[in-house]
Amino acid sequence: MTITCIGHGYVGLVTACVFADLGNKVWVVGHTKEKIDRLKNGDPIIYEPGLKELLEKNLKAKRLHFTLEYETAVKESEIVFIAVGTPPKPSGEADLSAVFTVADSLVPHLKKGVTVVSCKSTVPVGTNKKILERIENKLKSGVEVAVASCPEFLREGTAISDTLNADRVVIGSDSRLAIDKLLELHAPLASKKVVTDLASAELIKYTSNAILATKISFANLIAFFCEKTGANVETVIDAVGADHRIGKLFLNAGVGYGGACFPKDVKALTSIGEGLGVDVTLLKSVDEINKEAKDIFFKKIVSAKTGKNIGVWGLSFKPNTDDVREAPSLYVIRNLLAEGYVIKAYDPVAMDNVKKILGDKISYVSDPYEAVHDVDALCIFTEWNEFKQADLRKVKTLMKTPVVFDGRNIYPPNTMKDFGFTYYSVGRKKT
Ligand code: UGA
Repeated sequence: MTITCIGHGYVGLVTACVFADLGNKVWVVGHTKEKIDRLKNGDPIIYEPGLKELLEKNLKAKRLHFTLEYETAVKESEIVFIAVGTPPKPSGEADLSAVFTVADSLVPHLKKGVTVVSCKSTVPVGTNKKILERIENKLKSGVEVAVASCPEFLREGTAISDTLNADRVVIGSDSRLAIDKLLELHAPLASKKVVTDLASAELIKYTSNAILATKISFANLIAFFCEKTGANVETVIDAVGADHRIGKLFLNAGVGYGGACFPKDVKALTSIGEGLGVDVTLLKSVDEINKEAKDIFFKKIVSAKTGKNIGVWGLSFKPNTDDVREAPSLYVIRNLLAEGYVIKAYDPVAMDNVKKILGDKISYVSDPYEAVHDVDALCIFTEWNEFKQADLRKVKTLMKTPVVFDGRNIYPPNTMKDFGFTYYSVGRKKT
């Protein structure tokens, strides 16, 4: 099959590479020449494990093509995926301007017959219907579109295996042809296929992210209880999660969730609910608890009254990505800077992205041990593997005062005590 992905972020590029690898011819359309040139040369732009290799392999096999022109790509394609960003507006509502611009731009290039236009971007209920209306108004005779919603559930850091081994593929459409084409494209994946209407598909995506965010905020709420009562959040969650109806996944307490999806999608679902007259108190609380998790962590640092030189381990919103969008690290670091703290940070891959935001307000070092040299405390924001078995004896020797604030509960509190650290984590006793 020949398909097009419009957009080359995590969703567009991973989708393109995976379907090219399965033997399809895939066009990727972008609008920045410099980025398209880099992609043509095998540079994925984003950091995602395994993506560079998949990109290079499929470029070489001539199954993957990058272009700035809609025409070349769209006229050849049986399916066109829209995979552009839907960032939040100040109100929390999703900004759909890029999605609609793409829908408008592809119309003049559609071939005669039927093309499936499938939206992978996360969009509010009713958006795909609007896409169909916009396109239908402009169609030349003999040209038809079948619109489908095919939301994406991949996570950054494990995007390729999440796509290949998705728990489910959701296809929402009123068109039998669109459903059949998308089922054919996804046939090599063993995933459960859920075929439904447009509105349900759109809502499945928001519901999935909102429930995962709710689980995290729930765990963080219980961590607040633990900190007040001396209970241990890990023991509580471990026992609670042993109940199969609850499960343990996405119940890790910490310094809050970040990234381009949970914060944005919880706010967008809140805004959709408000528009529909649905009581969205629960969703608002999820968002508020997430902010509180970051605030409490910040206050923990300030009230410990350590000196003001802080080393930081981990800047990305989670491990295995260089993405720092809505990263809890940025929120806490900004607050610390406002209080006069001096920050020296290390992250294996995300420092360049933080430099674009914080510039020289903090300093950056290329080694985790350099980050702790002569500091009054160490703050951990991301549970990168390399921190889990770091040489803690060396860390303690290098630090001016051995104080650690761990926002991801990487270490057992008693181990840290034995090493001689004053150790603050989340929802567990200070040791
Ligand atoms: C999330 C979803 O997990 C994907 O299914 C979805 O496709 C994606 O959003 C999207 O909508 O595009 P992602 O943002 O890449 O994926 O990352 P997650 O692994 O879900 O982590 C999000 C945040 O939650 C991170 O900051 C992580 O540290 C935090 N988290 C996760 C916790 O604080 N506790 C947990 O137990 C799990």
